Amino acid sequence: MADFEGAKEHLLSVKPENGRAIDSKIEVRDLTKLSNKDQRILNKVNVDIPKGMIFGVIGPSGSGKSTFLRALNRLWEPPSGSVFLDGADICELDVLELRRKVGMLFQLPALFEGTVADNIRYGPSLKGKKLSEEEVHKLLALADLDSSFFHKSGAELSVGQAQRVSLGRTLANEPEVLLLDEPTSALDPISTQNIEDVLVKLKEERGMTIIMVSHSIKQIQRIADMVGLLVEGEIVEILDANSLSEAKHPMAQKFLRLSS
Ligand SMILES: Nc1ncnc2c1ncn2[C@@H]1O[C@H](COP(=O)(O)OP(=O)(O)OP(=O)(O)O)[C@@H](O)[C@H]1O
Ligand SMILES: [Mg+2]
Repeated sequence: MADFEGAKEHLLSVKPENGRAIDSKIEVRDLTKLSNKDQRILNKVNVDIPKGMIFGVIGPSGSGKSTFLRALNRLWEPPSGSVFLDGADICELDVLELRRKVGMLFQLPALFEGTVADNIRYGPSLKGKKLSEEEVHKLLALADLDSSFFHKSGAELSVGQAQRVSLGRTLANEPEVLLLDEPTSALDPISTQNIEDVLVKLKEERGMTIIMVSHSIKQIQRIADMVGLLVEGEIVEILDANSLSEAKHPMAQKFLRLSS
């Protein structure tokens, strides 16, 4: 297990004026989004996410969690100078290259037509690379799917299996960061555990940085290192995932009480 103590301390004390943290994979600075009616969807969000950490994002419905996540790979275009990957402003990067490096998984898997192997091969094929059978099998294994899935049609899979294929398809791009927007909320407990196991393995064996929105406090406690509590577009508290009960913000306390 990586030693995050230093990183955690930094994360808990991050202020915009502190500048760059050592080993931050993603830095967010004063990220703000206004609605058409000038309401604040995100309000001056500041957070540093160290490399190789699972960072959970929790908060009430409508608090801006998906908007925050989508800013990190420009599914929503953040203002320039507000999101950095390895110190580089993501608005300056090629957007397709960024999305390969910062992959995303949604609540419901959406597979393309064709076989599981076709789906896994999709991302690299856009760069003119055809993954070998062996490479596809490795990605299936990484996503906790056995080799019998190779020739299966996407249409014949359960939601849990399809979600793992989606994960394998995202991993085929060799991302450095994974963004997950409630990736297991439509899954049964066993499929949920399969995905959680894969995420922990990716963190531990590949040093992947994972940012996961979840409605499940228990899930956060199982796999996350740190947690950001988003309330009305603001990160009101950042906590060690093992000490969520120590939240001080009243809205955070209320949210945690209602969701436990
Ligand atoms: N493109 C948009 N234009 C205007 N308002 C938006 C837009 N996208 C989101 N919103 C509003 O921004 C707020 C945050 O939405 P968001 O989807 O980020 O919340 P969330 O925390 O992910 O909620 P949930 O837990 O229900 O998924 C909501 O009030 C939503 O109505
Ligand atoms: Mg959402």
